Amino acid sequence: MDKVEKIHQKATTEINTVGDLSKLEKLKIKYLGRHGEINKLLQNIKSVSNDHKKEYGQKINQLKNKLTEIIDLRHQKLITQSEKSQSVDISMPGTQTPKGCLHPITIAIQEITAIFSKIGFIRMSYSEVEWEYLAFDALNMPKTHPARDDFETTFLSGKPHEKFGKMILTPHTSSGQIREMWRLKKPPIRMINIAKCYRPNWDATHTPMFHQFEGMCVDKNINITHLKGALDYFNQSYFGPETKTRLRPHHFQFTEPSFEVDVTCSACNGTGILRRASFAQDDLTVKCKICKSGWLELGGTGMVHPNVLKEGNINPNEFSGWAFGFGIERVIMMKYGIDDIRNYYTGDIRFLKQF
Ligand code: PHE
Repeated sequence: MDKVEKIHQKATTEINTVGDLSKLEKLKIKYLGRHGEINKLLQNIKSVSNDHKKEYGQKINQLKNKLTEIIDLRHQKLITQSEKSQSVDISMPGTQTPKGCLHPITIAIQEITAIFSKIGFIRMSYSEVEWEYLAFDALNMPKTHPARDDFETTFLSGKPHEKFGKMILTPHTSSGQIREMWRLKKPPIRMINIAKCYRPNWDATHTPMFHQFEGMCVDKNINITHLKGALDYFNQSYFGPETKTRLRPHHFQFTEPSFEVDVTCSACNGTGILRRASFAQDDLTVKCKICKSGWLELGGTGMVHPNVLKEGNINPNEFSGWAFGFGIERVIMMKYGIDDIRNYYTGDIRFLKQF
């Protein structure tokens, strides 16, 4: 009888303190299973005297019922507990998914388009695959021009066109000048062609695919002052109101006269010198690392060559125009002082999310 009572107490504490359902299952087997404690007690009935056999049997039966009952109760309790812990707490803050952002090139394309649309320029996006004729011949570039070498331009396989020659990946956006003259047939033309360009280079300032934006304005009496005004307007809008623009004589086959465009460096305000505050009486000055001279080179421009206007079926005696072509990757680099163009395309999220 003592043993029955002991097992009763031990089983009750064990069952009431067990923490999970699988352990409870083990306790059930331990006490109520075929080789469990209850059956062991029943086997002991042989050694109990006849007088007590009945009472002993009843006690064990009671214990069996009692244990079954508390195991069931415990089972219920553990189930409710686990349901509670799995239920949704609607007052908890949700998991934050990382937010995406626009690529810096996309942002710049939007900005440039907006700046030029304010002065009446229409955004075009001429194709990335072009005829050799439109990219070179129509732009007054002789067959022997070094840009037509396959070190500089990517030629596509396929049958060349009788007049237009081979197919290429556009090495610059200037073929858009011809296409826009063909499309509109007659001036006025105010176009901004933004497209992908391809040249087989890969270093800190070149990627084999990059973007250019090509501005073109053709009308009656257009001269260099209009070009300079448009460039001043763009550079001040994009780089900041203090920006100064300078034209340097240069040569392109498709413009005459031709220029390279420089803008004042925004890091040193065009001085080429950075001031470092010092505790000593004299100021320490250092050369600006970004520009070295106060000016940064933006790209090429000039007055559209009469031969190019003729290719576009426009009479050069009646109309004149200007054009420029700048790199998008480059203007962003100048604006923010980025020193490696490959950052745009290696997909490092730490770089991309700064814009
Ligand atoms: N197409 C020239 C380049 O890629 C730039 C340019 C465009 C120069 C228009 C003059 C006029 O370098």
